[in-house]
Amino acid sequence: MSHAVSPGASHVLAPELHASYPLIARGEGVWLEEADGTRYLDAMSGGSMVATLGLGRRDVVEAARVQARRVSFAHNEWLTNPQQERLARRLVERAPADGDYARVSFVTGGAEANEAALRLARSYQVERGHPERWRIISPAQAYHGPTFATLALTGRPGLHGPLAPYLFEVLHIPPSTKRFDPTGERALAALDAILADVGDEVCAYYCEGVSAASLPAYTPPNTFWEGLAERAQRHGFLICFDEIVTGLGRTGSWFAAEQLPVTPDLIATAKGLGGGYTAIGAVLARRHVYETIAAGSGRVPLGHTWSGAPVACAVANEVLDILEREELVARVAERGPVLRRRLADALTDVSLVSEVRGRGFLLGVEYADPRDDRCFLAPELRVAARVDQAAIARKLVTLSVQPTRDGYAGDQSLFAPAFTATESELDEMVERFAAAVHAVEAQVLPVLEATPLRPTA
Ligand SMILES: Cc1ncc(COP(=O)(O)O)c(C=O)c1O
Repeated sequence: MSHAVSPGASHVLAPELHASYPLIARGEGVWLEEADGTRYLDAMSGGSMVATLGLGRRDVVEAARVQARRVSFAHNEWLTNPQQERLARRLVERAPADGDYARVSFVTGGAEANEAALRLARSYQVERGHPERWRIISPAQAYHGPTFATLALTGRPGLHGPLAPYLFEVLHIPPSTKRFDPTGERALAALDAILADVGDEVCAYYCEGVSAASLPAYTPPNTFWEGLAERAQRHGFLICFDEIVTGLGRTGSWFAAEQLPVTPDLIATAKGLGGGYTAIGAVLARRHVYETIAAGSGRVPLGHTWSGAPVACAVANEVLDILEREELVARVAERGPVLRRRLADALTDVSLVSEVRGRGFLLGVEYADPRDDRCFLAPELRVAARVDQAAIARKLVTLSVQPTRDGYAGDQSLFAPAFTATESELDEMVERFAAAVHAVEAQVLPVLEATPLRPTA
């Protein structure tokens, strides 16, 4: 019998207060295990695209132990430490644009990394004599974290909920998805309209280079990126990438930006940096951003207590060692397309599936109404939730989302395994996932006939 924790037996303020949660007592590779030995196959790298190296690695644990014994804490405000120095050097060496990134600031997670990037972008504008540049432009369909500033970055009222009054104004443009804007021209026109209105006040454009949960594995067409880069140059605003998920190999390169025709001025990254063994995030700044601040006040205030802490940085250095030693970024680049084909083949006869897309080990499955293969499915059908339920019933951990009420995306699933998953584990994940989606289709198709089509635009 499974050891799920029921709401009445827990003191944890869990996201779903009336749900039971499996109690995970152990993890090994891509397997999560309850105390009674019930095992879940993890197609989501620890559930949230974090555990890129798999769970239970003794080499990472040993690196943490050795560093904790040497020096576990030394506050970043007045001190630095060899692990932080080494990690910063290694990250700028692996960043895109061939050495054009100069400095790294460490934090403890994704939202913090995005907020630190926002602070740096604003400092840059103020330090170069443009205090009037404060506005941020961002694509609406995104997720950047649950803090007030990062919630403001997304244009999704469904996520803002009752917190809307606390969020500063961010100007949003529609995402240039295949469904709404396949060429990227509509998004560029929306950007131009904003720039014509308040172009002199724009500080930065903030986005995911390749999206994670909001639009799994989606990236705008090159026309959009090229147009964005040209406008950033012309109007004097920065381009910031949220690579919280995509940084450190997820899409088959160290950073997703390498694969796109644009070089961000700031990159925020987090999840894969700690690989699920420590809470760490980072912001990488390009040389011109760093030099502007250095030549101005020479200060980057407002750090966190745990910024650049020795144990977290030692773990991240070990994560980088493993990625290199085991050539995992190259493996993800090589095996990603094979995995995507396998997934697409396994889902080929599911009429609810409209697209399987992806880069590296960040794959997305999009569902649509089979009656026109385009309209979103009615939210009441709860397709995303059903997929995750059907998957967990088959002892598979997946992550599906349903941002339909925000307008730009419907039900979708992510498929983002650890880079170390074996071929047979990947096959097993695909098999269980396809079985789950088939089961959901069997539940939903009969109900669908009685539901009107929901036009998407
Ligand atoms: C793209 C993206 N940005 C930011 C975040 C927020 O990261 P954290 O939960 O570590 O604050 C997430 C978390 O899922 C994410 O997927």
